[in-house]
Amino acid sequence: MRLLPLVALFVFVSATQAGTSNSLLDVSADGKLLLAANRDNDSVTVIDIAARKALREIPVGHHPEGVAWIGNGPTALVTLHGDDQVVFIDAEAGKVAERLKVENEPYGIVTTKDGKRAYVSHDYPGKVSEIDVEGRKVLRSFKTGDWTRGIAIDNEEKTLYVTDFYAAKLHALNIPDGKIIDTWAGHETQNLCRHVVLHPKRPKAYVSHIVSRVTHVDGRGSIFPEVTICNLWKPKEADEKRRRSIAMDTYNGVYVTATPWETALTPDGKKIFTIYAGTDDVNVSTVIDDDYREMERIGLPFRVGKNPRAIRFTPDGREFFIYNTLDFTVTVHTTSTTAKVATITTCPPPKSPEWVRGKVLFQTAVLSGAKWISCASCHPDGLTDGRTWHNLEGLRRVPPLAGLAHTHPLHWSADRDEVQDFEYTIRSRLMGGRGLITGTIKPKVGFHPVELEEKTSGRSKDLDALAIYTNSFDFRLSPHIPAPGKLSAEAERGKALFFSKETNCASCHSGPYFTDSRLQKPFNVHDVGTFEESEKMGPKYDTPTLLGVYRNVAYLHHGKAKSLMDVLTNFNPKDQHGKTSHLSKEQKEDLVAFLKSLPYETPPDEVPNTVPFRFKKESKPDARKD
Ligand code: HEC
Ligand code: HEC
Repeated sequence: MRLLPLVALFVFVSATQAGTSNSLLDVSADGKLLLAANRDNDSVTVIDIAARKALREIPVGHHPEGVAWIGNGPTALVTLHGDDQVVFIDAEAGKVAERLKVENEPYGIVTTKDGKRAYVSHDYPGKVSEIDVEGRKVLRSFKTGDWTRGIAIDNEEKTLYVTDFYAAKLHALNIPDGKIIDTWAGHETQNLCRHVVLHPKRPKAYVSHIVSRVTHVDGRGSIFPEVTICNLWKPKEADEKRRRSIAMDTYNGVYVTATPWETALTPDGKKIFTIYAGTDDVNVSTVIDDDYREMERIGLPFRVGKNPRAIRFTPDGREFFIYNTLDFTVTVHTTSTTAKVATITTCPPPKSPEWVRGKVLFQTAVLSGAKWISCASCHPDGLTDGRTWHNLEGLRRVPPLAGLAHTHPLHWSADRDEVQDFEYTIRSRLMGGRGLITGTIKPKVGFHPVELEEKTSGRSKDLDALAIYTNSFDFRLSPHIPAPGKLSAEAERGKALFFSKETNCASCHSGPYFTDSRLQKPFNVHDVGTFEESEKMGPKYDTPTLLGVYRNVAYLHHGKAKSLMDVLTNFNPKDQHGKTSHLSKEQKEDLVAFLKSLPYETPPDEVPNTVPFRFKKESKPDARKD
């Protein structure tokens, strides 16, 4: 039996949980009001907890990802991931009181108990900013990692704990001097971490994430749910284990869960709840003080609505709320029994019924045979999982899905021509699902692109809906530009090089999407000297769009190029991929500056290559931009 010698040194006082860790939900300190950020509706809903009623829905802007009350309200802060703003709302008046421009991609938000400061995590490029709430201005900003999403503040309000999205690392940031003072690094397979919450009394952080085992492209061995517990005290011995991961796939025996999104502790710190966005359920566990087992489940998970992404307790811990983001409801539950006592609609379904259905299918792990994997496990909200998978045909980096409707054919080897062809992925060894088309499809033999011969669109309403959702991700303008439509002097020089005959980049990266991809046969595919031994379908690849490349974690189909400069130099030794060898160091830097500025203007919503299966903004008079 291990002792806990250092725990007592920490002055952890119990506090209400309002605003202490990032979430789409926040309960006011007095427990009267609940806020829900409606990510796909670009709004926030104010809920009267006692009346079990939505009071009002306040339009805020693109992709709200975090909300936090200032004390009991009526002021609350909302992060807009899509607009680079933190908005101050007056929840009583139902209005936006102020829009504060902040750094790129604000994600989570926490506040101090006195309501004077707020701290915001920034996804790309991995920062935290400090906001003076009364003065409504940004005071400081700190570099915290690479992709900062999860954020929590300790009870003494001296330390912030933040997590990296693609590495599930936990960092401790010392608020007074803004320095990272500690890091809990995980295993390289740990991935997609959006959240961290602290134990209300003990020095422990709970981090939810998945594991992506890229070398096992098999439904039963590639993706797992995990909750990692970090000991926040300084290690006493050099080999002291400071971080322990609990495999949630075997946690419930044969009952499988997927995509742990968030965890929450009861205010007394005795129980911990884990919500799973891929299987629509929740695990309840007892917190164990042994620094070894950490938690023990109470029964099997209980079911909730579709794609739960947030959970919050009332300050007295008697009730909790689940945000079922694809039912557009918050459900109210009694903590002792987990029984549902009320369902509150937060907002009307956004966009179109097909888009919503498509998103449901994209998020659910039920599409896969063993219920471990969903499309979202590798394409989270249309982004990349930052990984290169060791597929049978060769190394394949996961590309982001923005602009997909305009850049068909699909896959690096252009072996698919419609998103409905991902029926083959659903039925593959990777996902092991039954598929959405009733009946048979031409079998896959070896690496022959049979998908190009088999028409899969129009054969299943669900599959068409999945295509509509998958084809509807837009680009946002690059943060590396001085203003919309404008380039820096460096990037202007790089643009001239890019469009010059000499480099020849624009011969393949042509048109508004910077690609010559087109659905007319023969497809444009090119050997640019990137082909590798392990490749079974190469050496020719589909030209990727260059819009949004600044945000890539790695480059080229094999993901071996770690920077844009790497693509132009180390991976282009023979000038097979445009001509770059004659360029000076400065010229290459200019070219990189141009690439990082893409897109600097919004690309057209319709080009000759655009496919019909997508959500079109004009198709609904009140349609909002994604
Ligand atoms: C295990 C991770 C994983 C899962 C699960 C997964 N994908 Fe992918 N996806 C990838 C990889 C890797 C690529 C690149 C493969 C290639 O180009 O050959 C990719 C490519 C794509 C592309 C092509 C993008 C482009 O620009 O060419 C689409 C569309 C896509 N996936 C949709 C889906 C859908 C829909 C699902 C669910 C049915 C799904 N994926 C499930 C890993 C995954
Ligand atoms: C002959 C056609 C062709 C030319 C010319 C060309 N490219 Fe490419 N580009 C491609 C193809 C095909 C790929 C994908 C190769 C791979 O992944 O192995 C690619 C990939 C890239 C990537 C990586 C994108 C990503 O998401 O991983 C960048 C960046 C890029 N090109 C920039 C350039 C620049 C800059 C030039 C000019 C110096 C250029 N390309 C010239 C066809 C071309």
